[in-house]
Amino acid sequence: MQIVTTVSEMQALSGSLRAAGKKLAFVPTMGFLHAGHMSLVDKARNLGDVVVVSIFVNPTQFGPSEDLDTYPRNLEGDTKMCEAHKVDVIFAPTASEMYPEGYSTFVNEEKLSLPLCGQSRPMFFRGVCTVLTKLFNIVRPHVAVFGQKDAQQAAVVKHMVRDLNFEIEIVIGETMREADGLAMSSRNSYLQSFQRRDALRIHQALEKGRALYESGNDNTDRILAEITHHITEVRRLRVIYVQAVDRDTMKPLRKVEKGHTLIATAVWCDDVRLIDNIVL
Ligand code: PAF
Repeated sequence: MQIVTTVSEMQALSGSLRAAGKKLAFVPTMGFLHAGHMSLVDKARNLGDVVVVSIFVNPTQFGPSEDLDTYPRNLEGDTKMCEAHKVDVIFAPTASEMYPEGYSTFVNEEKLSLPLCGQSRPMFFRGVCTVLTKLFNIVRPHVAVFGQKDAQQAAVVKHMVRDLNFEIEIVIGETMREADGLAMSSRNSYLQSFQRRDALRIHQALEKGRALYESGNDNTDRILAEITHHITEVRRLRVIYVQAVDRDTMKPLRKVEKGHTLIATAVWCDDVRLIDNIVL
């Protein structure tokens, strides 16, 4: 496994791999890898000849009062996990390598990124689209794998790839959960055990919504009210949003459209911001 830290070295490497006819499968991450990331890596392994994982805590997707400085980092542990999962290349640039002095170009998706997390984190998708545009130009993958846990991000990225004519196939891997159902996230490491216990209610509430739908109720307003009720019963949790949208367009849905309805939520568990979703 190679660890590459400069843009020029990564571009040269991907150029020579492509010239040799290799198919490059890419998993972009912010590191502090867990089993959720590794399931995306395993998926990438099956999709390409060479697996590249980027590890970069991207400053442009954090708001001024967000957790950029405290975001968990562990390059040594990440390297071991990547080695165990047969990753070929880790691309781990510094912030100044990606955003040198005088950097001033940003990529904005202006429709799908507006609702849900776009409301409470107005700079987030601009940062994500910008860094992914850069990473796609640096790594030059044939296929890139993203997690369904970040469902809006996945939809925005697919849309951006289409709009900007990137020749990259976007593949979505399912959300990995802890044994009790909590969606895996690097930010779970912020949770103390009593907070983690309460955070579990987010997944349970979404499942209550699914049960209501499966019992014959397809009115999303009713389903969202059910989910919100179950979350707000827990004193420590504060709902940022619970919404039903089309999983591809992010447009609100009043009625469940089977297979297309994303029920997405963002919740504060004390000072930890968590997201989760289900598709009905
Ligand atoms: O999902 C993430 O970890 C990040 O948003 C991504 C896609 C690596 C861009 O920084």
